[in-house]
Amino acid sequence: MGFAYPESRRSIFERFSLEARPGEFVAVLGPSGCGKSTLLNLLSGFLRPQSGHVTIDGAPVAPEHPALGYVFQSPNLFPWLSVLENVRFGLRMNRRGTPQEQRAIALNFLRLVGLEEQAEDPPHRLSGGQRQRVALARSLALEPRLLLMDEPFAALDSMTRSALNDELLRIWSSLGQTVLFITHDIDEAIYLADRVLVLGLPPTGITAEVTIDLPRPRDQRGTRADPLFAQLRERLSEQIAKLTAGNQRVI
Ligand SMILES: Nc1ncnc2c1ncn2[C@@H]1O[C@H](COP(=O)(O)OP(=O)(O)OP(=O)(O)O)[C@@H](O)[C@H]1O
Ligand SMILES: [Mg+2]
Repeated sequence: MGFAYPESRRSIFERFSLEARPGEFVAVLGPSGCGKSTLLNLLSGFLRPQSGHVTIDGAPVAPEHPALGYVFQSPNLFPWLSVLENVRFGLRMNRRGTPQEQRAIALNFLRLVGLEEQAEDPPHRLSGGQRQRVALARSLALEPRLLLMDEPFAALDSMTRSALNDELLRIWSSLGQTVLFITHDIDEAIYLADRVLVLGLPPTGITAEVTIDLPRPRDQRGTRADPLFAQLRERLSEQIAKLTAGNQRVI
């Protein structure tokens, strides 16, 4: 596919191609401004490519595609709704089940992310990490086959981030969605993914693709202590450094 924002002449993507197999966890790394969020917006149908197309299971995407879940960088919760009602919101919009069933589903996903007890609280009473958990539960409640995540844990401290990484992997291994996860953090990408892509500045596209053969289930101590983890970090750091070096030359 090819894409440029209408108001600028510069292409963000040219002859860009990406395919994920069902249930695959793909992480995307790349410098700020390389087009990561743009990519997710194209994959979700919020933006349309000028050439080529985006499909899920062979069908074109659209913003309200039922197979799509989107977790943004900031949780974007409705402040006037309780935590439970925020999670229930999508189910209500999609008319999935009776209100009682919707509440039960929402509560179940809140339980999955460890927030059952905050169900009746308004979002402002939650911490940043808890709000991001609610956003995750809200997307998961719709049982998407493709989950798009745009640096969802970037604003969190490293302990909370690690805990949420583990929760995400646990949920993913039981629900089996395809995940496209954007991050700036090399370790996070390796820890989570089956495959890591590195994006260069526009319109470079994918400059590296690294398969992560670390065994699953992963765990913070064992996985990070695996010598392969260090090798993969080294390889990806090198790729990122090349991009940054290229960048400096341009400036
Ligand atoms: N609405 C827009 N109109 C024009 N240009 C845009 C628009 N949104 C983003 N861009 C440009 O497109 C490029 C890619 O932006 P994008 O937000 O996808 O980057 P990113 O990789 O997500 O960056 P970050 O890591 O900082 O979130 C940037 O150069 C940005 O200035
Ligand atoms: Mg972005």
